Amino acid sequence: MSYMRHTITLIPGDGIGPEVSNAVQAIIQASGVAIEWEEASARGDIDRRGMDIMQSPAVKSILKNRVALKGPLATAVVTGPPSLNVQLRKALDLYANVRPVKNLAGVTSRFQNVDIVLIRENTEDLYAGLEHEVVPGVVESLKIITEKASTRIARFAFEYARKWGRKRIHSIHKANIMKMSDGLFLSSIRNVAKGYPDIEYKELIIDNACMQMVLNPCQFDMLLLTNLYGDIMSDLAAGLVGGLGVVPSGNIGEGVAIFEAVHGTAPDIAGKGLANPTALLMSGIMMLRYLNETNAAQRIEAALYQVYNDGKALTRDVGGSAGTSEFTDTVIRALRQ
Ligand code: NAI
Repeated sequence: MSYMRHTITLIPGDGIGPEVSNAVQAIIQASGVAIEWEEASARGDIDRRGMDIMQSPAVKSILKNRVALKGPLATAVVTGPPSLNVQLRKALDLYANVRPVKNLAGVTSRFQNVDIVLIRENTEDLYAGLEHEVVPGVVESLKIITEKASTRIARFAFEYARKWGRKRIHSIHKANIMKMSDGLFLSSIRNVAKGYPDIEYKELIIDNACMQMVLNPCQFDMLLLTNLYGDIMSDLAAGLVGGLGVVPSGNIGEGVAIFEAVHGTAPDIAGKGLANPTALLMSGIMMLRYLNETNAAQRIEAALYQVYNDGKALTRDVGGSAGTSEFTDTVIRALRQ
């Protein structure tokens, strides 16, 4: 067991965020890892005073601590300020979104033996948010792809493959239509791939990739995608193993990272003690691995798998009848066995 003390920024978030954050804090504490949580809001001050996100307590805290665990943040649709999630990723240049998607025993899903890691470029593409009205009734949204960002995400993906023993990367594109933008993404990746002959490199057009994913997801090992395709395909992949409640995610930059659940704030069940902390817990396990707390990560993962295998204390969203605290206590008991 490591005796190193980590200070981690915790952004509990909105809706069920505080409930699932409390559960994850309790489980990580029970594992014996010494973490001091520095709780920071990403929202309050920004909304109230129109503050620059760089001045927010959350960003200041993350810049100091370098690692954060984050619950979901509510975002208005169509009108309202830009998504805080997107702003945080941009402010900290968290250029790689990592989404491991794997079956969890006891969770009903269409496929078994799915084990895919999706790597999504997080900073550009249509998410640059550059939209304007050309004339009334006509808007333009700019898709920005640069060689620099494409090369950086490709290096990240190939290095990730080597580090975690992955064998094959498919890059997903629509370069047959967007010959320049997706073409640049592809050519940048091909250049990087040449330096990694130990990793098999393949390409697939996005529409075919979606069909292949729902027909036979087990053929995929790692996917490398631009921002928009990555956003859509990572939720599609999550759906193949039981949904957003059972998959983690990490947003990684140079020496700084935010680990977060990918589900939303679940306003329909917020405050009722029904939320499933599994996704945030899995993100916490990813965070522990990032902090080199491998032993604690493995023990928490084993306890979580055991609780799912037993199937007696699962929350309602995955077919059980337990509340958040019963589930959390059961994981902690399994951890202490
Ligand atoms: P949602 O994920 O909050 O809810 C969809 C359904 O899944 C609901 O029935 C909800 O009860 C259920 N659900 C989600 N997480 C759950 C959990 N941990 N345990 C049990 N059930 C769970 O998606 P929705 O309704 O589209 O979004 C609500 C708000 O969340 C919006 O303001 C949206 O912008 C925000 N959001 C934030 C995200 C983030 O911060 N990363 C990601 C997605 C949405």
